[in-house]
Amino acid sequence: MTDIALSFRHADGAMRSDLTRCLDFMNGTPFFRRYKQESWDALLISGNSSILDVACGIGFDVIELARRFPDANVYGLDPSLGFLDLARRRAQGLANARFVGGDSRRLPFSDNCFDAVRIDRSLQHISAPIEALREMVRVTRKGGRIVVAEPDWGTFFVYNGDLASGAKIAGFWEKSFANPYIGREAGILLQQCGVASIDCRAQALVVRSGEAAEIIFDLGRVTENCVAAGVLTRDEAEGWRLATEAACRSGAFLACLTIMLWDGSIP
Ligand SMILES: C[S@@+](CC[C@H](N)C(=O)[O-])C[C@H]1O[C@@H](n2cnc3c(N)ncnc32)[C@H](O)[C@@H]1O
Repeated sequence: MTDIALSFRHADGAMRSDLTRCLDFMNGTPFFRRYKQESWDALLISGNSSILDVACGIGFDVIELARRFPDANVYGLDPSLGFLDLARRRAQGLANARFVGGDSRRLPFSDNCFDAVRIDRSLQHISAPIEALREMVRVTRKGGRIVVAEPDWGTFFVYNGDLASGAKIAGFWEKSFANPYIGREAGILLQQCGVASIDCRAQALVVRSGEAAEIIFDLGRVTENCVAAGVLTRDEAEGWRLATEAACRSGAFLACLTIMLWDGSIP
């Protein structure tokens, strides 16, 4: 009864190639590039900054930042050895990109050693997210920047005309995240960790293609899991599948999720 969201908690498991495909797909879309660009701008990177991307996955942000800021030192941390291996291969030739294994709640770095630290769509999967944020604050120097980009699954919907099944599927999928509402909660957690000058913006991910929604939101597997859990009957799941096909054909299909972008400084 696993799915992509549950699998990101232990990315070296059986679904790693699905997770890699999902990350590569998302990183290639204009929406993801747009909000990531905004998150990079919020780091206020200057020439020789030292930057940490916590839960860096397959290294997309580390590689982009290392390319754009050749004098900066960019570190990525992730517990998945498979992701780090792929990230290192993709970063070949970039001497200022480095990857380190570890857990966000026990960062293997000394106090005050980074100018800017970010985390992107990962607190949603991490239990005790405040521990990760405390660690991010600990390793950031005074005056340094903290940037958090996280979805809020309370804003998520999939529309194909079948509102009742859509609500059940979205409600069930939400439970696969350790922190489905981290998008709205991140601000108060940052405040509790001592971050100052906190700012917040939002960007809406709008998906109108059934294929893209399948990759990003794992809809087929989640629908099957709903049946196994008794949330949908087999007939309701089949009705949902047919409604999705019809909505994709007519152009009515829609999925939407808000990504919240938080930033602040260490006083
Ligand atoms: C959805 S991916 C996001 C990856 C990357 N930040 C991006 O934007 O493409 C979530 C990442 O969180 C990582 N992760 C899961 N638990 C973690 C933990 N306790 N500490 C640090 N990273 C963790 C996963 O291995 C995965 O790489």
